Amino acid sequence: MSNRRPLVGGNWKMNGDLAGCVELTEDVVAALSQTDVLDHVDVSIHPPFPYIQAVGHALKHHAVDLGAQDCSPKLEGAYTGQTSPLMLADLGTLSVLVGHSERRHGLEESNGLIGQKLHAASEAGLIPILCVGETKEERDGGNAHDVVAKQVREGLDGLDSTAAGVISIAYEPVWAIGTGETATSEDVQEAHQMVRSVVGSMYDVELAEAVRIIYGGSVKAANAAELFACPDVDGGLIGGASLDARTFAAICLAARETVVA
Ligand code: PGA
Repeated sequence: MSNRRPLVGGNWKMNGDLAGCVELTEDVVAALSQTDVLDHVDVSIHPPFPYIQAVGHALKHHAVDLGAQDCSPKLEGAYTGQTSPLMLADLGTLSVLVGHSERRHGLEESNGLIGQKLHAASEAGLIPILCVGETKEERDGGNAHDVVAKQVREGLDGLDSTAAGVISIAYEPVWAIGTGETATSEDVQEAHQMVRSVVGSMYDVELAEAVRIIYGGSVKAANAAELFACPDVDGGLIGGASLDARTFAAICLAARETVVA
C-alpha cells in the first residue's frame, strides 16, 4: 500500500454544451457529496475550453478540482487560438493534461512540444498531468516500453526536481482509449512500474515513489477496482465513462476503496 493519494480525472474531451456541462458538474458534485470520496481522493474534471469558466463557477465551494485538457507552450503573446496556462490558472484551474494521445496522434504533437507545454504549465503554477502511451503497432512490435520511457524522459526533460515532484503521469495505451479494450491489470502494473523507474532514474527513488501514475483507457465502473488495486496505479483518467455522473462517481468510489482507513 502506498502513501500516494489517489487521483481520478474526468476528461470530457469535446463533448457537451454549456447547459449540459454545468448540469454534469452539479450531478458529479451531488453524487460525490453523498460519499466520503473527496476526503481520500483528488477528483478533477476537465471540461472543453469554452465551458471551463462556467464549470469552475459550478465547482466553487466544492472539493472537486477544475482541470484543463491542454495548454499553450507559451505564457503570452501573439499565438492565435492558443490558451495560456496563466489564463487557466487565472480561472482557478488546478491541473492540465499535456500530451494526450488524441493530440499526439490526431494533431502530431511531438515529445518536444509536449515537454514545452509541461514546462509552461508548471511555470504558471498548474499541476501538469503528462499523458503517455504506446500505439497498437508499437506494442505489437515489442516497442511499448521504449516508446513510453522516451515519452516520459522527453516530457520531463529539463524539469527540476521541485517541479517534477508536483506532476502526475497518466499511462494510457492508445489502443485502449475509447475502444472498450482495457489492458490487463498485470500489463498496467508492469507499465506503471517501468514509468516509475524511469522517473527514479531521472530524479531519485523518493521522488519516483511520490509521483502519482494514473491509468487511462476504457476504465469503467466494472473494471476500476481491479485496475486501481495494482500497487503502482494511483487512480485513473476517465474519458467516456466520466460523461455519466453516477458511473464517474462509482469509479471515484473504487479509488477511495483502495485507501485504508
Ligand atoms: P476513455 O478515454 O476512458 O474513453 O478510453 C480515456 C482518455 O482518453 O483519457
